[in-house]
Amino acid sequence: MKYSRISGMGHHLPEQVVTNKDLEKIIDTNDEWIVERTGIHTRRFIDPEKDTLANMAAKASRKALDRAGLKTQDIDFIVFATITPDYFFPGSGVLLQRELGLESIGALDIRNACSGFIYALSVADQYIKSGMYNNILVIGGEIQSTALDLSTRGRNTAVIFGDGVGAAVLTSSDSAGIHSTHLHSDGNYAEELYVRDPGSSRPREERQPEQILDTSGYKVYMNGNMVFKHAVVRFTEVIGEALETNGKAADDIDLLIPHQANLRISQFIQKRMKLSDDQVFNNIQRVGNTTAASIPIAMSEALEEGRISEGDLICLAAFGSGFTWASALITW
Ligand code: ACO
Repeated sequence: MKYSRISGMGHHLPEQVVTNKDLEKIIDTNDEWIVERTGIHTRRFIDPEKDTLANMAAKASRKALDRAGLKTQDIDFIVFATITPDYFFPGSGVLLQRELGLESIGALDIRNACSGFIYALSVADQYIKSGMYNNILVIGGEIQSTALDLSTRGRNTAVIFGDGVGAAVLTSSDSAGIHSTHLHSDGNYAEELYVRDPGSSRPREERQPEQILDTSGYKVYMNGNMVFKHAVVRFTEVIGEALETNGKAADDIDLLIPHQANLRISQFIQKRMKLSDDQVFNNIQRVGNTTAASIPIAMSEALEEGRISEGDLICLAAFGSGFTWASALITW
């Protein structure tokens, strides 16, 4: 029986640190409101002159490969989770393949927003278990800043999101690293957290560039209260599902790494599951909500900070647009 394990992690954050005070200068908001509602103090924004999703992903990937003790050429396949690809098409997977100079390996893009990294990990896990590939790069990356409505009209979402990329190398192994993944969705809530355009749902005349008068469809729409209510329920359910499948209890978790949606959501789950501060990793305070990138960035930082040791039981959990939600249980 083949299994997969994460052999290396890396992340890359753009240099520009944007504080709540910086946002106060352009939006009618304030540090106190943002910290109280979201826990966020700073986030990173790219420099559009030099940063692309593909080149940031290449930097994160090289760190992950280095930590895995592998060369770029050892990679057989790429799974790239993002909702902010460099182009509307093709996806960012092929751009990363080009950036890394990898010849003709397959590259797959996953568009499951905040749950994207766990979906990507699950897909890669199946390829490795089936024996099709030995080493897969699994990426979660986003550039949110260039699409944010940095005016008072967009303040309920503009203060939340940030940019960055996290990368994992998934490697074939004789013992289980990834024990299970659980993936869910409920499309009844698709329009509660979404960006409509440039989707194909509009008639042709409304999709022609010269006809686009209303650009609001290009901005994030979020029903914040609805997201909060569903997130706290689904996070708890899907973590419970991971534990039950593997005969484990909340006490057994050495580190829970939740998608960094909002510090209040993470704290709610921690309390409901009776987890100690040592058992939960949060970095949203410093990097904001980076959607598909949030879990792999957090994992990579947790490793750098010595919060994960060999043999630890790690639980990843996510909730986001779709709605989608997912978990993974991993022995490090
Ligand atoms: N600064 C100051 N005031 C603001 C801001 C801001 N940035 N944004 C909204 N407000 C104002 C609103 O205009 C409104 O004012 P009004 O009462 O005079 O009309 C008031 O604050 C309340 O607005 P709401 O939109 O109802 O804000 P809410 O209290 O719901 O807080 C928040 C918004 C923090 C997003 C909350 O709904 C929440 O925690 N939602 C969870 C969803 C979440 O965290 N999403 C993250 C991204 S999605 C994901 O990753 C899964």
